[in-house]
Amino acid sequence: MSSTIPHEMRALSLERYSADLDEAIDGLKVVKRPIPALQRGQVLVRIEAAACNPSDLLLLQGKYGNLKRLPTIPGWEGSGQVVAHGGGVFARWLHGKRVACGLQGDREGTWSEYFVAEASECIPLYRRVPAEQAAGLIVNPLTAVGLLETARHGGHRAAVQTAAASQLGRMLIAMAKRDKYPLINVVRRKEQAELLKSLGAEHVLCSEDADFASQLQALCVRLGATAAFEAVGGDMTGNIINRMPPGSTVYVYGDLSQQPCGNIDPIELLFREKTVCGFFLGTWLRRRGLVSTLRAVRHVQRLLMDGCIETRIQRRLGLDDARDGLRQYANNMTEGKVLIMPHLQK
Ligand SMILES: NC(=O)c1ccc[n+]([C@@H]2O[C@H](COP(=O)([O-])OP(=O)(O)OC[C@H]3O[C@@H](n4cnc5c(N)ncnc54)[C@H](OP(=O)(O)O)[C@@H]3O)[C@@H](O)[C@H]2O)c1
Repeated sequence: MSSTIPHEMRALSLERYSADLDEAIDGLKVVKRPIPALQRGQVLVRIEAAACNPSDLLLLQGKYGNLKRLPTIPGWEGSGQVVAHGGGVFARWLHGKRVACGLQGDREGTWSEYFVAEASECIPLYRRVPAEQAAGLIVNPLTAVGLLETARHGGHRAAVQTAAASQLGRMLIAMAKRDKYPLINVVRRKEQAELLKSLGAEHVLCSEDADFASQLQALCVRLGATAAFEAVGGDMTGNIINRMPPGSTVYVYGDLSQQPCGNIDPIELLFREKTVCGFFLGTWLRRRGLVSTLRAVRHVQRLLMDGCIETRIQRRLGLDDARDGLRQYANNMTEGKVLIMPHLQK
């Protein structure tokens, strides 16, 4: 390792899961850890910015699909510069490059000054992709690409999406518009509907409106929308699928309400051949293989550079202020992401 790399790093440590989100956030501690030794095929990334996504909050609450042994460092993705490698052709080639990086499974995460990444899970960045946008380059943009591609390959002429004012939802709006793919955007508040219209969304429905169900039904028929990207769960899943045309598929890809999917009329499944299934980015990428994944990665970087998509950022914080920022994000998700910037000085 280079002499400019310290022996210790500061990081946010999650010491216990707590279903109550406020308690979970309060339980995060800033700790000092030795910089881990690198194995062959690994690189050390000096983290410039790390995103906070709903999947991070679910991890803190012990509700995510893949939990980790505690204590652990949270953060599923980030961006920074590769400052050391553990050997291997690709790891060596990455040395000195700016990358977006992520992880899966039971490993330490990106809310830390330094992060040990598998070289195979790093994306070298084009020069014009800023570190702050690269911090959220993997999870949301690639999922948006995956959802749209899945709907198209499934032969669906148009789609519905819920929680459409999310950062991912806004990327879906921009990508669908660019591809002239009709998208019906469902939000839960009037202000979100206005926001999406101001961003150029054509079809926006508010689930609080008294005639939401009939509006949704009519629009789905008119546009031929037989796919739905559903991120809320709870009754929303049924409220959507019950109103969609025969043969529709709802892809559940989020758990924002933290409630079991419900209110689904069995008659709709039995007699109208409707389906509910899950969509998870990790599975989609694995099935796709390396070459197609690289194509998708190049595509999202181009979209970022062209200004077609972006992640809105509401606040940037160092490790010491992270808890405050995470609370702000959890209470104002539509406002944008908070970025954890471990080297940011107060
Ligand atoms: N399956 C996968 O592989 C995968 C990959 C990436 C992301 N995701 C999922 O994609 C979703 C969006 O992620 P993101 O990072 O774009 O989110 P985000 O920017 O943090 O925004 C979340 C949005 O959801 C809204 N929301 C929160 N709780 C809600 C509820 N109970 N009912 C309706 N709306 C609600 C928020 O509105 P308010 O401001 O009104 O709270 C906000 O507009 C998340 O569920 C995430 O887990 C899944």
